[in-house]
Amino acid sequence: MNFLNTLNGKITSQPPIWIMRQAGRYLPEYRRIRNTELNFIDFCLNAEKASEVTCQPIKKFNLDAAIIFSDILLVLHKLDFKVSFIENEGPKLKKLNLGEKINFSDWKKFRSDLAPVGKAINLSRAKLNKNVNSKNTPIIGFSGSPWTLFTYLTEGQSSKDFSNARKFLWSNTYRSEEVFEILVQAVIYFLEIQLDAGVNAIMLFDSWAGSIPARFRNKFIYEPTRKIVQYVRAKNASIPIICFPKSMGEGIVEFADIINPNCIAVDHLTDIEFVHRSIPKNIAIQGNIDPICLVHGGNILKREVDYLLNLISDRPYIFNLGHGILPETSQQNLTDIISYIRERKYGISNS
Ligand code: CP3
Repeated sequence: MNFLNTLNGKITSQPPIWIMRQAGRYLPEYRRIRNTELNFIDFCLNAEKASEVTCQPIKKFNLDAAIIFSDILLVLHKLDFKVSFIENEGPKLKKLNLGEKINFSDWKKFRSDLAPVGKAINLSRAKLNKNVNSKNTPIIGFSGSPWTLFTYLTEGQSSKDFSNARKFLWSNTYRSEEVFEILVQAVIYFLEIQLDAGVNAIMLFDSWAGSIPARFRNKFIYEPTRKIVQYVRAKNASIPIICFPKSMGEGIVEFADIINPNCIAVDHLTDIEFVHRSIPKNIAIQGNIDPICLVHGGNILKREVDYLLNLISDRPYIFNLGHGILPETSQQNLTDIISYIRERKYGISNS
């Protein structure tokens, strides 16, 4: 319950802990199940396998929240952009060219195609309930935010400078708005499936928020995100929302002000002291540890944890990384840091 209490504004004696991409390649038991399915999308839509890997990190590390195993790009796949994952190359998909429309109307099929995600949530709940240690462990549902989805759509893959996405915005702002309307609708349906299946919190990943020209933040970050948050709150006012507007710099202040999420996840490239002093105290903070620092482990990592927990002792805080856990991370480092945090007196450094 620690996790939900923190999201609801309580400062708990120990910070709840979970890790972005906690079900992933650093776990041999994940790789074993992953290897039984060639295609990553099929893997995500296999409710039995997705629920199994959702529960793996909870069993192993007794984390304070599970995140449903899925991917933000499923939504684009089901909008007919044919996403595939090529080993060591990342995702590839059919590209939306400059000024092109998304011709999509079969929302009924979209929702039924994504129904296995709801089933995976139900199965995960049942599996977590079987163990006394995890029967109260909340499940986080999630989606990519429209801008981050738009970058994949217009680049057809991951990108470094997002020049196609930016060209699209500058060359045809009106058409961009039309595309975003469809993306907002798709995200809402994706979240609806997860809310109906009983997730306890929602996280919106805007991993490339730091790459939009600042002049477009209002139209293509704040506005679409506000609509999605409004939808979730209207549907179920008790569901807390975590937003991850990664690397937005000073924009995070306006983001917090306009969106007012329960929690902001902060990446490791953003100055945590700036965020902590600049956003309202009732908004929880999550994250900020550099994933490479967890790869390194040892006393350096403990000192970072002490620094963070001492700094953020007067607002709700959730321990997490600034981005996903890296495949080369040693499980022992994770086990060690979890025990260190759980044995540590909150707010007091014992190093
Ligand atoms: O956090 C979790 O454990 C839940 C599962 C989850 C995955 N992807 C599984 C995954 C979540 C929440 C995501 C979100 C996601 N997916 C984001 C936003 C967060 C972030 O990392 O910035 C993004 C941008 C994606 C898109 C995506 N999915 C990319 C670019 C890749 C390839 C890069 C890579 O790490 O391989 C994926 C694939 C992916 N999604 C993997 C996992 C565990 C690895 C693929 C595999 O196991 O074969």
